[in-house]
Amino acid sequence: MVNENFEPKIVGFCCNWCSYRAADLAGTARIKYSPNVRVLRVMCSGRVDPSFVMKALASGADGVLIAGCHPGECHYIEQNYKAMRRYSILKHTLRAMGVEPDRVRLVWASAAEGQQLAEAIDLLVADVRKLGPLKWPGNWTENGQREEALETLLKEHEEALEVV
Ligand code: FES
Repeated sequence: MVNENFEPKIVGFCCNWCSYRAADLAGTARIKYSPNVRVLRVMCSGRVDPSFVMKALASGADGVLIAGCHPGECHYIEQNYKAMRRYSILKHTLRAMGVEPDRVRLVWASAAEGQQLAEAIDLLVADVRKLGPLKWPGNWTENGQREEALETLLKEHEEALEVV
C-alpha cells in the first residue's frame, strides 16, 4: 500500500552541460516538478562513480537520479556510455544487496528538455513513493544517522564544487 504521507528524498546527479541546464530551464520556465529532489551538479554522467550512488543511499536518500546528455552528445565523447554500463552493474549490485533497483534511474535530458526532465523527476519520485522508505541493509555506520549524513554529504558536494 502506498503511503501518501511519505516524502522520498532523492539525490539527482545532473550533468553540467545538459540536464543541470534542463533543471535550470524548468525553474526559469516555471515548470513544476517534485521538490523532493536535491540536484547536484557533476561535469558529466560518466563522472558519477557507483560509490556516489551507494553513499547517497547509505546516507539517507531513498532514490537517486543520474541525468546526462543524450547518447552521442556527451561533451566528453562517450562517457555517458560508461554511465550506462555502470548503471547496469549498479542495478545488479543493488538487487544482490536486497535494495530495489528501481530506486536508481538513469535518464537523458538536453539543456532544452526542462519539461522532460521534470517529468522524469516526478515519475521517479512517484515510483520511490510506492516503494516506501529505503531500509538500507546491513550494519552501515551511516544507518543510525541517515538524516544527518545526507545533509553532510550534500554540503560536502556543494563545497567541493565551489573549489573547482
Ligand atoms: Fe553530459 Fe557527458 S557531458 S553526459
